[in-house]
Amino acid sequence: MRLNTRVLVTGAGGFIGHALVNRLKAQGCFVRGVDIKYPEYESSKADEFEILDLRRWDNCLQATRGGIDEVYNLAADMGGIGYITAFHADIARNNILINAHMLEASRLNGVGRLLFSSSACVYGQNKQRCADVTPLCEEDAYPADPEPGYGWEKLFTEELCRYYRRDYGFETRTVRFHNVYGPLGVFEGGKEKAPAAISRKVALAGDGEAIEVWGDGEQTRSFMYIDDCVEGLLRLMESDYEQPLNLGTNRLVTINQLVNIVCSIAGKQLVKRHDLSKPQGVRGRNSDNTRIKKVLGWEPSIPLEAGLEITYKWIEGELRKASRISAGKTRSAVV
Ligand SMILES: NC(=O)c1ccc[n+]([C@@H]2O[C@H](COP(=O)([O-])OP(=O)(O)OC[C@H]3O[C@@H](n4cnc5c(N)ncnc54)[C@H](O)[C@@H]3O)[C@@H](O)[C@H]2O)c1
Repeated sequence: MRLNTRVLVTGAGGFIGHALVNRLKAQGCFVRGVDIKYPEYESSKADEFEILDLRRWDNCLQATRGGIDEVYNLAADMGGIGYITAFHADIARNNILINAHMLEASRLNGVGRLLFSSSACVYGQNKQRCADVTPLCEEDAYPADPEPGYGWEKLFTEELCRYYRRDYGFETRTVRFHNVYGPLGVFEGGKEKAPAAISRKVALAGDGEAIEVWGDGEQTRSFMYIDDCVEGLLRLMESDYEQPLNLGTNRLVTINQLVNIVCSIAGKQLVKRHDLSKPQGVRGRNSDNTRIKKVLGWEPSIPLEAGLEITYKWIEGELRKASRISAGKTRSAVV
């Protein structure tokens, strides 16, 4: 229990932030959540929840006021591959404003420590050109060749954190997430990621029907369940480790395999209709977990099948509640 720790979670209305608030409250922390929106599917357990646009400097000062010990800076304009390839200018501008202002406001308000949520999108695209990719270790972010827009902004903010440590002695932690999934995450509207999008499509399809899969489906990724993600965040924040650290699983699966797992959870046999015109991102990406095992003595371990079962059932339940599934049938043949 950490009864007297005062924690600020930005992005507390989002997927990871909301789950983190729940965990911090269970540990007895005082939690202030900040976001531009409330959580969508259940209310926040944060002691205080403030709606603030953190692109604005004055709002970052307000968010970090009052003796905050730890900031988990999770607020970001982000989404799945469709979203981050479509809006480079908006994403890079919005996130650089949030992150630069949050660092400086935290420093000026005497925050003890700030954790920045970076991404595997910082890794060199030239190291991710084949599906059977070599897992990416932390050094592979340089020479820099990250994902345009989103990846460049994350990599720059990692550097900014380093400058703040060096020039001001301000304590930072930097996590590089690899594809996080789980219940209470966005599953439609354009910002959803592959596990949620596939779960939605499978839930909406009738047995034997077709679903659309982006690319040829042979692109590979690793996926981490939300509980592992939150556990890793807490462990990293408490550790002495200051350099960027991978947080993900190292089980590589193709998107086609991901579809097959979700289909077997749903008990459906579906046809995959590949759409080669849709973005698929890098060809392959996996996490090298050598460093996390060494510095945290731990790595994510929740099996993909177990996490996807919970995620699929939650998404299916939401679609049923909205009367979009009746008796396992769907309205159209391709979803
Ligand atoms: N989910 C993943 O797989 C993944 C992978 C790599 C990195 N990340 C990073 O982890 C963090 C959390 O991601 P998530 O999956 O929970 O995303 P999310 O979109 O669910 O949460 C981000 C939250 O930030 C909020 N936000 C956006 N702009 C804001 C602003 N101007 N002011 C205040 N709040 C604002 C959003 O409203 C949203 O609730 C982000 O920094 C993201 O880049 C996530």
